[in-house]
Formats: sequence, C-alpha cells, structure tokens
Amino acid sequence: MRIPMIAGNWKMNTTINEAIQLVSEIRWKLGAIDNVDKVICPPFISLAAVSELIKGSSIKLGAQNLYFEDNGAYTGEISPLMLADLCELVIIGHSERRQYFNETGEIIDKKIQAALRFGLKPILCIGENSDENEAGKTEEVITNQLMASSTRVYYLSGLVIAYEPVWAIGTGRAATGKQANETIGFIRHTISQKEGKRIAQDLRILYGGSVTAANAAEFINQPEIDGALVGGASLKPAEFLSIVKQTAEIRGRLSG
Ligand code: 13P
Repeated sequence: MRIPMIAGNWKMNTTINEAIQLVSEIRWKLGAIDNVDKVICPPFISLAAVSELIKGSSIKLGAQNLYFEDNGAYTGEISPLMLADLCELVIIGHSERRQYFNETGEIIDKKIQAALRFGLKPILCIGENSDENEAGKTEEVITNQLMASSTRVYYLSGLVIAYEPVWAIGTGRAATGKQANETIGFIRHTISQKEGKRIAQDLRILYGGSVTAANAAEFINQPEIDGALVGGASLKPAEFLSIVKQTAEIRGRLSG
C-alpha cells in the first residue's frame, strides 16, 4: 500500500513572518493526522524558520527548487548541500520553472541527480500544456518528460512524481478525477514497461492543478492517484488541513 502524500507548494508567496504565522496556525492539527505524508514547501528564505517550528512533528519540509552544483560562483542559486540539513524533499521541474526559467529535461535530470547525492527526495513534476492537451499529445509529452529524466536509481530513491497538467494550474479548472486517474495510470504503465512492475507499483504519483478542499476527494478516491501537490489552497490553513484530513479518511476507509 502506497502512503498518500499531500504537499503544499507555496510558490513565491509569504514573507518570513507570514510563513511563520501560517505554519503556527496548522502545525499541531496537521502533525496529528496519521497515515498521510504531509509536506510543506515554503520559499527558500523561510525554510530555516519553518524547520524550527515543525521540529519533532510529523510534518516534512520541502524546497521548491535547487541548483545542481554543490557550491561555487553561481550568484543567486541554492545548492543541495545547503538544503540537505533543512529539507527532506525538493520539487524539481515544476512547469513554472520549465516555462519561465527555461528548464530543459537535461537540467531537470542534473537537478534530480544533485538532490539524490544529498539524500533529498525529488518531487518530479510533469504535465502537458493546453495546446498539447487539445492536440491529443498528452501521452507523448509525458513520455518525453519521463524519458528525459528517469532511471531505475531515481525510482529506488523514493522519488515522487506529480502529474500537473499546465492548463489546470492556478486556473480553477482542475482535471476531473477520471482524467487525472487515466493519465496517472498511463504514467505508471510507462514506468512499469521501462523499469518493471514492482517499481511502478511502489511509486507514488500525485495530481496537481487547482486542487481545493471541495474537489480533493474526487482525486484521492481514484485508485492510481496517491495524493496531491497543492498550490493556492496550501496557503489557506483551513483548506489545506481539510485536504489532508479528507485524504486520511478516504485512504483509511479504502485500506480498512
Ligand atoms: P494550484 O493548486 O494553485 O493550481 O497550483 C498547483 C501547482 O502548481 C502545485 O505545484
């Protein structure tokens, strides 16, 4: 049985004080929910403060990005060496990074390798944009993204995949549970063919794109979907808590 994961990607939101306030509001209730991996990914600048606040709780901390070198003359970048003491996970290849910061499959591959060198678990984001979706190219795009950065070593490291169709991100136009389940089933099938059934069965694949407390259950109830990568709704304490709670309840019911 794969342990579900709900990860909050705060993106470029919150000052340090706001991050402290947000985490202070949810940490006890969030930490008390069992059988779900709860991850929050604040901006780099707040990681140290948030890490102090969640120490000793079951909440895990993730970064939103990293650079693939350990140190050196890379002005403005943050390395896996710097993150390793603070974080357990790191989001890699988010569509906003692919789109606005020109991250290619090759760069993303290097970032995954860099994360693994320091024991950071990558949450690798993949997904098609609306043109690709409308042209019926979803499977082709996803296969290319998976092949650009996927080796057996990655999967054995506990890497998590997040399927985030670009057209569903921040638009309020989420995929349906059925659509997301089908595409995530396709991802699992593709990995199964390449790396074997066992690896594919153990791999956690999340859905992301306009997930809210109102539609979360639709995704969590699907057999292929192992949780969610939540953007906007992760900045609202009650909303994020509700998504995690619903996940614990649904998964508890399904496994019981
Ligand atoms: P929204 O939940 O705001 O659509 O963002 C999804 C996302 O990009 C998470 O990484």
